Amino acid sequence: DWTTGNVIDEQVAAIRELVGDKRAICGLSGGVDSAVAAALVQKAIGSQLTCVYVDHGLMRKGETEQVEKDFVAATGVQLKVVDAAERFLNALKGVTDPEEKRKIIGREFIRVFEQAQAEIIADQGPAVEFLVQGTLYPDVVESGGGTGAANIKSHHNVGGLPEDLEFRLIEPLRKLFKDEVRMVGQELGLPEEIVHRQPFPGPGLGIRIVGEVTKERLDLLREADAIAREELTAAGLDRDIWQCPVVLLADVRSVGVQGDGRTYGHPIVLRPVSSEDAMTADWSRLPYDVLSRISTRITNEVKDVNRVVLDVTSKPPGTIEWE
Ligand code: XMP
Repeated sequence: DWTTGNVIDEQVAAIRELVGDKRAICGLSGGVDSAVAAALVQKAIGSQLTCVYVDHGLMRKGETEQVEKDFVAATGVQLKVVDAAERFLNALKGVTDPEEKRKIIGREFIRVFEQAQAEIIADQGPAVEFLVQGTLYPDVVESGGGTGAANIKSHHNVGGLPEDLEFRLIEPLRKLFKDEVRMVGQELGLPEEIVHRQPFPGPGLGIRIVGEVTKERLDLLREADAIAREELTAAGLDRDIWQCPVVLLADVRSVGVQGDGRTYGHPIVLRPVSSEDAMTADWSRLPYDVLSRISTRITNEVKDVNRVVLDVTSKPPGTIEWE
């Protein structure tokens, strides 16, 4: 019968048998799937696994540290971190089209990841034969069906496998649903923030800035997003909402008044949604006092933001993300 303990034991035995004395690489995205997959493989083969984390500079506040420190502390995993923030910023310079942004981020990500792989192989030799992926059961069904809905936006899965790579795949979560993955992660002792992390897109904050992505805008959005997350958590609402994108309208300004003077700043959009599977969604009816606290704090604490607006659109017609 199904218990997280059984799943873990079964997978650990199977992975050991499969890998033998070879080595494996796993890309970490900061999300729950890759973290649990890596933790399972780590439990099975220890230092024969090397994890790679590409820091594209588009993560939310504290998330890279969560991977670098908390995840490593919890699992003892061997981690190679590549700081590629500048490279991504350069590649995104002047780009405002959403699809263009997604393509650039996806392309750069694969390049950086492949280079890290090549370095690991140079280091560890041909024993590196396996690539770990956090593919879930719904992903298997979706990609195997071939009749799925049209791809509305080009989805970039961090850790996605480039087609010309000839690794053998280890996909220890292939039979699991998301809630089961979280249970396994919990049992493996992973940090709460990772196990219960809400969905976050691979291209990160890059597609939550409407307009060009710059370092200053990313820093600003990171602050606003951190405040929204903090207040939602403090209000005990994390489990009620599916996710809450926080979006910076970087090319829009509106007039405001703060202190003694007129301001001309940017709006921040809150996009809290409830959903079962992200295919459809409804806007979350958050308590007014929570919205009010978030708005007051963001306009007081984040420079150049003088307005906070709430997105009250369902999906369809709106997508969850703004880009
Ligand atoms: P949309 O905006 O299409 O988003 O309603 C549906 C869900 O997918 C997430 N999302 C992504 N996840 N790579 C990802 O891994 C992506 O490129 C990407 N784009 C959107 C989004 O956050 C929501 O949960």
